[in-house]
Amino acid sequence: AAKKLLILPGDGIGVEVMAQVRRIIDWLGKRRKIEFDLSEGLIGGASYDVHGTPLSDGTLAEALAADAVLLGAVGGPKWDNLPFQFKPERGLLKIRKEMGLFANLRPATVFDALAEASTLKAEVVSGLDIMILRELTGGLYFGEPRGIETLPDGSRKGVNTLVYTTEEVRRIGRIAFELARKRNKRVCSVDKANVLECTVLWREEMIKLQQEEFQDVELSHMYVDNAAMQLVRNPKQFDVMVTENMFGDILSDCAAMLTGSLGMLPSASLGAPDATGRRRALYEPVHGSAPDIAGKDMANPLATILSFAMCLRYSFDLAEEADMIEAAVKAVLKGGLRTGDIMQVGKAKVSTTVMGEAVVRELDKM
Ligand code: NAI
Ligand code: MG
Repeated sequence: AAKKLLILPGDGIGVEVMAQVRRIIDWLGKRRKIEFDLSEGLIGGASYDVHGTPLSDGTLAEALAADAVLLGAVGGPKWDNLPFQFKPERGLLKIRKEMGLFANLRPATVFDALAEASTLKAEVVSGLDIMILRELTGGLYFGEPRGIETLPDGSRKGVNTLVYTTEEVRRIGRIAFELARKRNKRVCSVDKANVLECTVLWREEMIKLQQEEFQDVELSHMYVDNAAMQLVRNPKQFDVMVTENMFGDILSDCAAMLTGSLGMLPSASLGAPDATGRRRALYEPVHGSAPDIAGKDMANPLATILSFAMCLRYSFDLAEEADMIEAAVKAVLKGGLRTGDIMQVGKAKVSTTVMGEAVVRELDKM
């Protein structure tokens, strides 16, 4: 079947890092005979400049029809003063919402060559390979009622609500267990069941799901405050962590710092399967458009290259090629090449382009 891949480079360094992914796509065609049904579109400020909107209906329709979307980053000072609905970031929020992306996968992987760049001791993080799975469309960030009210006495009240239905818990849980099956078969479900009833339901549903469908995967539970502590104390104890939207927002940023650089962090967001069983999916680096270094051929392309590897693994069932790309990234780092953001004493500082070429050269050796 044709692999429909939509590429949305976006703004700033998004364009530069995506150009490096293009090299890898070319390589896959030439050397592995893997062809994509490829199209490229505009999002963010780049789309606003042409279409007057950060996400056109045409691009959205293409995204909904694609097997996977690979996105660079959006935003920049040029568009900072636009009214809210025209801001580049609106384009991103809209595409995520329309694609129904309820599961956010944030791997935290420490490449041995970079273990010293972590804020923690090298021995605590070297070889780290965990996956944080954040529920993305429910929980505290979306629950109703919400808002700020003025009370009769003139004082005010702010309200947000933590809500999950059994179906919402089960669909994110299912992704957690399926991921664990492809990894080390352990899921840690993070909640606050000692205080929040909603997460008592979360925990009960996770247990039921494991009993019913995933007895080959080990399930454990942890309170979120302890999980934050354990992530910093001994992160290697985890395999897959699955958690509520806000808990996941915080824990995934915490885990990001274990790995050292924003320029190294990939992500994937998955939605519900459509009628044909195809799961909507969007892959993007965690970083933004980095206006401070945009246009200077300085950005680290590895987060986007690793996001593309996730795309091959989860949307196109090309685990072997995904492994090859990850191995090539490791080899390049081991060889001593560094972009500015991950620069270390004694290493060679290289441009975005040279880093991209080096990954392809490593692939050539395989
Ligand atoms: P940012 O992630 O763009 O940059 C933060 C810092 O990290 C900057 O110093 C930047 O140079 C550096 N950096 C980021 N990615 C890098 C890479 N690949 N290689 C080397 N250095 C890298 O976040 P910031 O500065 O808060 O936002 C800049 C713009 O990006 C804003 O318009 C913001 O709204 C947008 N943004 C977009 C996101 C997205 O498209 N998903 C996510 C975050 C921010
Ligand atoms: Mg965050």
